[in-house]
Amino acid sequence: MPTVELVNVSKRFGKVVAADNVNLRVEDGEYVAVVGPSGCGKTTTLRIIAGLIKPDEGKVLIDGVDVSDVPPEERGVGFVFQNYALFPHMNVWENVTYGPWVRGWDERRMSEVAREMLSLVNLSGREDAYPRELSGGMQQRVALSRALATETRLLLLDEPLGALDAKIRVELRREIRKLVKDLEVTAIHVTHDTEEALMVSDRIVVMRRGRIEQVGSPKEIYFKPKTLFVAGFVGEMNFLEGIVTEKSSDVITVKLEGSKERIVVRGEDGDFRRGSRVVVAVRPENLTIGSVEEGSPQGEIESAFFLGSIIKVTILLSNGVQVTTYVPPYSDVKVGERVSIYFDPSDCILFTHPGIPLTEALRG
Ligand SMILES: Nc1ncnc2c1ncn2[C@@H]1O[C@H](COP(=O)(O)OP(=O)(O)OP(=O)(O)O)[C@@H](O)[C@H]1O
Ligand SMILES: [Mg+2]
Repeated sequence: MPTVELVNVSKRFGKVVAADNVNLRVEDGEYVAVVGPSGCGKTTTLRIIAGLIKPDEGKVLIDGVDVSDVPPEERGVGFVFQNYALFPHMNVWENVTYGPWVRGWDERRMSEVAREMLSLVNLSGREDAYPRELSGGMQQRVALSRALATETRLLLLDEPLGALDAKIRVELRREIRKLVKDLEVTAIHVTHDTEEALMVSDRIVVMRRGRIEQVGSPKEIYFKPKTLFVAGFVGEMNFLEGIVTEKSSDVITVKLEGSKERIVVRGEDGDFRRGSRVVVAVRPENLTIGSVEEGSPQGEIESAFFLGSIIKVTILLSNGVQVTTYVPPYSDVKVGERVSIYFDPSDCILFTHPGIPLTEALRG
């Protein structure tokens, strides 16, 4: 059964460290998403697992076996890329049976598996079509069945939905996840779309600059980001910089930088002494706006965008920091109005200030 392990894997391209001492274990049957900004090393890491790139250091174990000297075609992996990569001169049937054919399977086994795969991706009946005759979503379904047709147990997906339009993308996310779980394969899915990662995976790996920042379940990553970068990268987040002015057993009062206003946050973990600089992170959905109240952070509504299910409101606080909140679609929001922002002390995450500009700490 396919577990995948990366042990101290590093890869440089000239001065660029594309993978920097990466350690990761993916369990059998697990669906892992790898996210991170462009250039952080996602594709490199995936190609190292596939055997398409040789790491400078470290090793890859598949099922506990060091595959350093095993060529890609013998690693038992199926690969799906963003750009479909189907053979253009072959029809759907020929594309899907290509892998089994190269491996010399007999006609019956080959047909059975190909038929099953095409039916799983809802393409039965389209066997004779050529890739150019299919929509992007259909082509990607063919690519999936082709990757799985060799009875591969490890599926590697590199931005498989990146080239598709939004509706099809969401539909296919669900289908891929179901396929992976039904066939009990192990999947590693690279995407820069964090919503996609939250939706499809059992665990998310967040990468930054060649390194793994955090590994955790979608909920852990969303609710308990370990670093400012993860907090800012996955989902939307507001950041407020300040100084701890008071500390009681369970709450901390933080004076915002650049203003006299104060906020109260829960402070059970971490070492946040009086006088220490902190960053308070709070999600838009946990922030509310209301009438101006002395002492709580105030600002002016800067913009309000109607997005159908919500209105996205940005507020420019008096210290120049911009924050975002969502309000119900029927709300009457007036740009220019002065408001105060509110949130529950337990709905925010407190970080020690990184000591560098926030923009730098959040950058990929
Ligand atoms: N063949 C190569 N030659 C030189 N540099 C490379 C090569 N492949 C990758 N790199 C560099 O390594 C770094 C990581 O690249 P990689 O393709 O793994 O990023 P990525 O996370 O997949 O990004 P994206 O989201 O844009 O696909 C980048 O700085 C990239 O320019
Ligand atoms: Mg990539």
